[in-house]
Amino acid sequence: MYQVFFRLFFRRMDPERAHRLAFGWIRLAARVPGLRALAFAVLAPRYPRLRTRALGLTMPGPFGLAAGFDKNATGIDGLAMLGFDHVEIGTVTGRAQPGNPTPRLFRLVPDRALINRMGFNNDGSAAVAARLAARRPAFRTTLGVNIGKTKAVPEQDAVADYVTSAERLAAHADYLVVNVSSPNTPGLRDLQATSALRPLLTAVREAADRAVPDRRVPLLVKIAPDLADEDVDAVADLALELGLDGIIATNTTIAREGLGLTAAPDLTGQTGGLSGAPLKDRSIEVLRRLYERVGDRITLVGVGGIEDAEDAWRRILAGASLVQGYSAFIYRGPLWMRAVHKGLAARLDASPYATLADAVGADTRKAAV
Ligand SMILES: Cc1cc2nc3c(=O)[nH]c(=O)nc-3n(C[C@H](O)[C@H](O)[C@H](O)COP(=O)(O)O)c2cc1C
Repeated sequence: MYQVFFRLFFRRMDPERAHRLAFGWIRLAARVPGLRALAFAVLAPRYPRLRTRALGLTMPGPFGLAAGFDKNATGIDGLAMLGFDHVEIGTVTGRAQPGNPTPRLFRLVPDRALINRMGFNNDGSAAVAARLAARRPAFRTTLGVNIGKTKAVPEQDAVADYVTSAERLAAHADYLVVNVSSPNTPGLRDLQATSALRPLLTAVREAADRAVPDRRVPLLVKIAPDLADEDVDAVADLALELGLDGIIATNTTIAREGLGLTAAPDLTGQTGGLSGAPLKDRSIEVLRRLYERVGDRITLVGVGGIEDAEDAWRRILAGASLVQGYSAFIYRGPLWMRAVHKGLAARLDASPYATLADAVGADTRKAAV
């Protein structure tokens, strides 16, 4: 039904406008207590065997919403209501900024993909921190907070910009993510080089500890699928060295491989990060590589091209303790999370693994022997 609605309605609309409208409806529904409870009961059924412990946190399942959908933390309850087991807000930057000129979001429907060059449009970490401080949650949700660099801040001051956001936001975060992998902020991805990443992650770790002395806020880094394999290994080694809690793999790609179906060059030729189905293979490859290197010493979060329960399950078998999605949510709609949970529970039941945790990395371990 959503597919029909999408074709008739959203598809004809500017993608960013459609996003704003749909997100507005989600927020509105979450404000009506009876509707909220009903939607939650229908869309977010719990499967006790999917209960997930990762990053020292307990979640009803492994499947969350990737960063970028709720950049300003305005709709966390609505997204939890739809069945996401965790919600990652952001990317939030040190200062508020408008992002790139529109149009900056493009749908490549035949390829089940998106290209975006939003450029971290957000209210800034002071406003988002104030919003989170004032929040009275309707549902207990695991909240990830993803931070990035303000565009106007010169690269040599990047660390201070991240530190400012970490200090403001860490107290509100169940986990904190340093995003160094969006392709739409010039120079950002250069921070993935270990020479830049080491001081950045060290400073953010210290800032989080300073801001929240009574709790160790888990810290993760989110990486690009475009890293060369040796650089993926280098980030993995650095994460171990620094005692990082997790790695999120991956962000969107600047590559255009796997785009075969969308005929319109005015879409495929857009600059920005490509997400959705064409990202699947490289994302899982990076995840596997990370798992081979870090095993279960670090929590791995698999994201990029997850479209259904089978994709999520494969990501878990490859080494992900948590999985996330964004693009398929646009194409599949509000029943998507329910279907993924149902399919994951069925796959776990049919598998030789007693728990989801036992399944994590099983395929990658098998391939290694
Ligand atoms: C419109 C859009 C905006 C995004 N914004 C962010 C962002 O602000 N920060 C971030 O870390 N990732 C951002 N992402 C990347 C997603 O979190 C995710 O890593 C990527 O889309 C791959 O997952 P998918 O194939 O399920 O969409 C964005 C993705 C899209 C499509």
